[in-house]
Amino acid sequence: MSATARKKAPNAEDIRARKGGQPLVSLTAYTTPMAQVMDPHCDFVLVGDSVGMVLHGLTSTLGVTMEMMILHGQAVARGLNGAMMVIDMPFASYEEGPTQAFRNAARLMAETGAGAVKLEGGVEMAETIRFLTKRGIPVMAHIGLTPQSINTLGGYKVQGRDAQADAVLADAHAVSDAGAFSVVLEKVPRVLADQITAEVAIPTIGIGASAGCDGQILVVDDMLGFFTAFKPKFVKRYADLGAQADSAIAQYAAEVRDRSFPAAEHVFADTVPAKGNT
Ligand code: KIV
Repeated sequence: MSATARKKAPNAEDIRARKGGQPLVSLTAYTTPMAQVMDPHCDFVLVGDSVGMVLHGLTSTLGVTMEMMILHGQAVARGLNGAMMVIDMPFASYEEGPTQAFRNAARLMAETGAGAVKLEGGVEMAETIRFLTKRGIPVMAHIGLTPQSINTLGGYKVQGRDAQADAVLADAHAVSDAGAFSVVLEKVPRVLADQITAEVAIPTIGIGASAGCDGQILVVDDMLGFFTAFKPKFVKRYADLGAQADSAIAQYAAEVRDRSFPAAEHVFADTVPAKGNT
């Protein structure tokens, strides 16, 4: 079946079943039109808390709120037809414990229609992941570089080099054993990402990890060249839409100033000669 003919979005168990199969394709989305563009091409779409940096100009994801996630989740849901929607739990909405996590995860799913939540953390989040999955909330885990912890990680550094490798490996096993249906590996050395992919039973979704992962995800504004504040090594620019937007807007500004816009075809005649010409 062609991607555009798909009707039923995959659910968490469909994603889990893709372990070792054709690589899973995923991007972040925050708006309806962008969700519509990527829907035919993606297996799942993540409403990432990167929305705070990408669309709201925040300097980290720490200021993202439940209300922001719900608003963007609802917008993305309106643009999806065949891809699954996963939504990020924002900073401070789940770390207090399983009960807080359940309350906020249930709200995110109920108010947006997302099929799963994503949360950051490994061993320390295993109990929460188990609690959620036993109560009907599919969880995608996120380990390695966890941007909500930049203040304790000391910045956006690669995680799992040398002596750190065992800890990241333990995180991967912990979230898998706790019932997560998949795990994002962010900024993890390739060899370690490949080892995790070989050892855990759930699909690994790489971002700055390895082509050997069970799937890949990128922040859409990064790969389209819209978000240019910084460019991590792992981002491949598939387009340069920021530069295209800049030159289009510069041309518009010049045409407004020299009065060549609007032209005759963009304005209305002062009489209505034919029926229906309004
Ligand atoms: O918020 C986000 O965009 C993410 C991806 C980078 C995985 O968590």
